[in-house]
Amino acid sequence: MSATSLRAEPPPVVTLRPATLADLDALVALEHAAFASDRAERRAIRHAIRSASMTVLAAVMDDEAGRETLVGAATLERRRGSRKARLSSIAVSPARAGLGLGSLVLDAAEADARAHGCTQLRLEVRADNGAGIRLYERRSYARFAVIPDYYEDGMEAWRYAKPL
Ligand SMILES: CC(C)(COP(=O)(O)OP(=O)(O)OC[C@H]1O[C@@H](n2cnc3c(N)ncnc32)[C@H](O)[C@@H]1OP(=O)(O)O)[C@@H](O)C(=O)NCCC(=O)NCCS
Repeated sequence: MSATSLRAEPPPVVTLRPATLADLDALVALEHAAFASDRAERRAIRHAIRSASMTVLAAVMDDEAGRETLVGAATLERRRGSRKARLSSIAVSPARAGLGLGSLVLDAAEADARAHGCTQLRLEVRADNGAGIRLYERRSYARFAVIPDYYEDGMEAWRYAKPL
């Protein structure tokens, strides 16, 4: 084994925090990189950041130059009088997919919903979204409904829920 391969790289530190309007450009870019259709528009993302009944979480890492880079995000919606929260979006930068970041962002989303007094998290996912379905089913989300013709291209949605 060479000396180089013995040198331990420090694991990259990912921070989860509420997004601010300063993250808007990066959030829009992530939305475009991660979703091929049914993208949230800039206006909708700005609204979500400002809304008292929504949380936008930003997963950020420092790059080599010490600059913060957005590597993932999630949006949660709550309704007054309801203890059900809805995960309306979750995305990881395609360059960082499959490394466990999705699970990390989902953990933070669940913690945020819990902190707001919610007892259940619900979501919809495209029936052909293997990575999304795997992520949710591995984390004990149960499919409770199918909505035909839900997405722009006619794809059905699978609805999942998890008690928090
Ligand atoms: C869904 C998404 C957030 C998952 O993020 P991620 O960082 O890749 O997730 P993780 O690394 O935590 O892996 C989740 C699981 O999916 C698996 N996976 C990754 N890509 C996959 C693929 N193309 N097909 C099937 N499974 C896949 C991983 O192996 C992992 O399973 P494991 O825990 O059994 O190993 C990410 O793929 C993404 O941003 N996709 C585009 C946006 C999207 O579809 N969001 C969900 C909309 S509801």
